[in-house]
Amino acid sequence: MDLNTIESDDIGTTAGQPAVLPAAARKVFIKTYGCQMNVYDSQRMADALAADGYSATDAIGEADLVLLNTCHIREKAAEKVYSELGRIRDMKAERALAGREMLVGVAGCVAQAEGAEIIRRSPAVDLVIGPQTYHRLPDVLARVRGGEKIVETDYAIEDKFEHLPQPKRAEVIKRGVTAFLTVQEGCDKFCTFCVVPYTRGSEVSRPVAQIVAEAERLAEAGVREVTLLGQNVNAWHGRGEAKGGKTEEWGLGRLLFRLAEIPGLARLRYTTSHPRDMDDELIAAHRDLPALMPYLHLPVQSGSDRILKAMNRRHTARDYLALLDRIRAARPDIALSGDFIVGFPGETEADFEATMELVRQVNYASAFSFKYSPRPGTPGAEMSDHVPETVKDERLQRLQALLVKQQQDFGLSLVGSTIDTLIEKPGRQAGQKVGRSPWLQPVIVDEKAGEIGDIIQVRITKTGYNSLFAELA
Ligand code: SAH
Ligand code: SF4
Ligand code: F3S
Repeated sequence: MDLNTIESDDIGTTAGQPAVLPAAARKVFIKTYGCQMNVYDSQRMADALAADGYSATDAIGEADLVLLNTCHIREKAAEKVYSELGRIRDMKAERALAGREMLVGVAGCVAQAEGAEIIRRSPAVDLVIGPQTYHRLPDVLARVRGGEKIVETDYAIEDKFEHLPQPKRAEVIKRGVTAFLTVQEGCDKFCTFCVVPYTRGSEVSRPVAQIVAEAERLAEAGVREVTLLGQNVNAWHGRGEAKGGKTEEWGLGRLLFRLAEIPGLARLRYTTSHPRDMDDELIAAHRDLPALMPYLHLPVQSGSDRILKAMNRRHTARDYLALLDRIRAARPDIALSGDFIVGFPGETEADFEATMELVRQVNYASAFSFKYSPRPGTPGAEMSDHVPETVKDERLQRLQALLVKQQQDFGLSLVGSTIDTLIEKPGRQAGQKVGRSPWLQPVIVDEKAGEIGDIIQVRITKTGYNSLFAELA
């Protein structure tokens, strides 16, 4: 980093003595890794810190507090954090020389998984805070400013959502016309490759009233599209209203019907789902709810029943395909997306070919694929028959070539058709705005085509690598 960007302190401290800033002047820089749940959590941490006098900054050099919201899903993700902490250590030292303090915190799934080990490996870290305790951040920081190093990774008894402040209206819309809303956290599925049940704990659903109130606040601020989040979002359940003033158990489908009633909310999405939790009501929501976008991220991981069993996915390739048939019957224009792991222990060429065959049968509109990464503490890491890296590389290349081709073909199939687009933001190039198709593709339009937040009809003229180009229909 460039030392010149550190301004000498303007609040009268002696060089070398960390300044005690008035609360209102503090700035926080948050860097987010990993999944959408971490994006949501980073916003909620920013909200908690705003109530504590911190304003957010994009310039790490001016931050009094740097928070890394981390991901532990693959080894590479976790290692990124340590290399970033190395850079931050140097910045912290430079800032100390200029007489300003820079507190460093690690949040998220690496924090939960590695706890105090992070401070041992990176002594520049002042606090480690797990995802279940973000509402305690202001208290933790007060103690850190008093000179303590803190590791806060116990699961809180209290409901963090009840303690996390809501963002101000202006802040909501500054973040955009699309928003995330976490409805469910944690996972009880224990797929043998996955750390999530250990980093995020067991499955918890937020209550209906809390979710509806949060969605209403988002809509009132001008949000048009809400994506419901959960590590296992379609396992969400809760007590909701029933006829005669009674309550009954709702699943995600019923919740989506309720959220679709909120004025202003034009689009709903949810992610990530597990095939075993796609129930009839959720499929019916795809059939009957125009606000529910025709796009479903439904990871299958592998097309081989032997590997699916070893992964503890508790469904077969045929179960998955039969489920897709039911979903497509309910909503014929639905686009499918998935996650794949290649090179799980014991995966043979025949197992991999079964994955390729499943992909050919499904025809995905988009997908994410990864090389298996053994994670400490998961059963997969203890299995024998690990697949050599070179084989994983080669399989990943073949799979990705097929998935990219399917994604491009899906884009091409839309050329010439008229579709709805939600205008989200200015484009990277002058004179353009960027919208979002029902199938989650970015849509590039002329900036005069509509205002941010409008849903307009456009005709697709051509495809880019990952996006669509369109003109007003
Ligand atoms: N809850 C989601 C997945 C969360 S993790 C679900 O059940 O689908 C996102 C994706 O990361 C997974 O779907 C999987 O494809 C991939 N992943 C998880 N653990 C992994 C590991 N150890 N190695 C490689 N990829 C992994
Ligand atoms: Fe991980 Fe499996 Fe749970 Fe998804 S369902 S979060 S892959 S354990
Ligand atoms: Fe990563 Fe944690 Fe999300 S491990 S994928 S940030 S739940």
